[in-house]
Amino acid sequence: MVVPSFAVSLADRITAALPGAPAGFDPQIRLSEHADLQVDGVLGLARSLRRDPRQLAAEVAGHLHGGAPVADARVAGPGFLNLTLSGPALLGRVAARLADPRLGVGLPEAGGRTVLDYSHPNVAKEMHVGHLRSTIIGDALVRVLGHLGGTVVRQNHIGDWGTQYGMLIQHLAEHPSDQSALTVRYKTAYALFQSDPAFADRSRRRVVALQGGDPDSLAAWRAMVEESTRYFSDVYDRLGVLLTGADIAGESGYNPMLAGVAEDLERLGVARISDGALCVFGDEPGTAPLIVRKSDGGFGYPATDLAAVRHRVTTLRADRIVYVVDARQAPHFRMVFDAARRAGWLPPEVEAVHAAFGMVLGADGRPFKTRSGDTAPLVGLLAEAVARATAVVAAKNPALGPDELASRGRDVGIGAVKYADLATSRTRDYLYDPDRMMALTGNTGVYLQYAHARLRSILAKAGAGGTVTADAPLEDVERALVLRLDAFGDVLAAVARDCEPHRLCTYLYDLAQTMTAFYERCPVLKAPQPVRDNRVALCALTARTLSTGLGLLGIAAPERL
Ligand code: ARG
Repeated sequence: MVVPSFAVSLADRITAALPGAPAGFDPQIRLSEHADLQVDGVLGLARSLRRDPRQLAAEVAGHLHGGAPVADARVAGPGFLNLTLSGPALLGRVAARLADPRLGVGLPEAGGRTVLDYSHPNVAKEMHVGHLRSTIIGDALVRVLGHLGGTVVRQNHIGDWGTQYGMLIQHLAEHPSDQSALTVRYKTAYALFQSDPAFADRSRRRVVALQGGDPDSLAAWRAMVEESTRYFSDVYDRLGVLLTGADIAGESGYNPMLAGVAEDLERLGVARISDGALCVFGDEPGTAPLIVRKSDGGFGYPATDLAAVRHRVTTLRADRIVYVVDARQAPHFRMVFDAARRAGWLPPEVEAVHAAFGMVLGADGRPFKTRSGDTAPLVGLLAEAVARATAVVAAKNPALGPDELASRGRDVGIGAVKYADLATSRTRDYLYDPDRMMALTGNTGVYLQYAHARLRSILAKAGAGGTVTADAPLEDVERALVLRLDAFGDVLAAVARDCEPHRLCTYLYDLAQTMTAFYERCPVLKAPQPVRDNRVALCALTARTLSTGLGLLGIAAPERL
C-alpha cells in the first residue's frame, strides 16, 4: 500500500487551508531543528497576497492544530510554522511502511516512457572514466525510474560508424597477422593515417567501400564491432550494471536514415546550404552551425543524433529522452534539440534532457590519467578498486574464507567506485581518489554498507519481534529517524524527475548518520518493552531503506562486512 509522506499529505492540508494559494503552491515543508517539521512557504505566499504573514500562518496553524498527525502547530519568526507531530502518528508510519514490501513508496513514474541514452563507448577505443560515469549514472537512473513504475528504454548509442573505421579496416586488411588489441591497432592506424598520404588515400577509398556495402569491408567492420562489444560487456559485468548486448543501438544503425534526415531538414527550411555544407544555424549570431551534411557529402555526429531523436519519438514512443553525456557536449545537444523541435520531430509534449556530468579528475585536480599518461583504461581501474577493498575487508575479518572474502571485496570495491561517482553532484567535476572512496567513515559507499550490516547484526540478535506499539514514548533522535525514513519516496521521486542520483546518496548518508546518533543515545536490545520492540522496528525499517536505496544505486548491501 502506498504511504504518502507527512510532507506530501500535510502539503495538501495546508494548501486546502489557503483558498488564495495559486495552483501548484509549494508550502516548502522541511525537517526542523525547533520542532519536527517546518513550513516556510506561507511567508512568501502572504507577501504575494498582501496579507500579514504571521496572521496567515496563524490561520493555517488553526486548521492543522490537533488534527492527526499534527499535535502542535506554532507560528515562528516572521511567518514560519513549526509543526510537532503526534507520537502515535510517527510510530504508525513506521508500522505502515514496514508492512509494505515497497516501504510505502508509490509509482509516480507509472505511464511514463523514458528513452535513456547512456554509456555509449566507442568501438576500437578504450572505454574511459567519462564512459564509466555515464554508465554508472545511467544505471542508477534506470533502476530508480523502473522502481517508481516508469518504463525505460535503454539505448547504448555506441560509436561504431564513421570515417575513422575506414582507416582501421584498411590497416587490418594490410596486416592480417597482427595480433595486437584493437585499441592498439587503432592508434597505429591513426599514426599511419597522419604520416603516410598513400595509406590515408587507401583508407578514404575503404570508407567509400564500406558505406557502399562492400562485403569484405563490412565483414571486417562486423568483426571489429563484435570484439569491442565483448570488451564492453566484460566491463559491464565487472560493474554489475543492467546494460546488455540487446541495449546496443549504435550510430551505424542510423546510417540508412541520414540522407532522408538531411533532405527533410532542408525541405522544412530548418537547414540550408552554406559553403557547400548543409547547416542548421542557431538563434545566437556568431555561434558555429550544426553541420548535418559535410561539403564532401559525408554525415557526422549531428546528423546521427537528429535521426536518433526522430526514431526515439516515432518508433520508440518516448515521452522523455535523457542523454547522460559529458557536460562539454552541451552546445551540441542544445542545437540538436532545437533543430529537432523546429522540424517537429520533438513535439512540445516530449521532453529532451541533457543530463550533463562533470569531468573526472585525478587526485592532482587534473583530468584523470594513468601513470602511462593515457586516459585510464577501466578494467585495470576496477581491478585495483576491488583489490584495495579486499584488503580493507580482510583487515577487518582476518578469518574470512577466500570465496566470501572475494565476494565482499567485490561488493565493497565496486560499490565504492560507484558511490564516489554518484555522490558528487552530477554537473560538478569529480575527483577519482581510491584512498578517499574506500574510507570507512565519511560519505562513502563502504560507510553505508557498514551501517547496513551493523543493523542486520542487531536485528539478528533481536530475533523475531518488532511489532510497533504506537502509544509508547519517543526520544527526539527517534523522531528524527522516523521523519528521515518517511522522506524516502519523495527523494526517489525527485531523483527520477531531475535525473540526479546524488540526491539519493545525500539522503542515505543523512539517514545513516541519524541512525548512528539514534544508536548512540538509545539502547535497542536492552530497552524495556514496548520501547525495545519499537526500536527493533526502527532498525528494521532503516536497514530495509538503506538496502533498497543502495540497490537503486546499483550497490550491493551485504548482510555482513
Ligand atoms: N560516443 C560518444 C562519446 O564517446 C557519446 C555519445 C553520446 N550520445 C549521443 N546520442 N550523442 O563521446
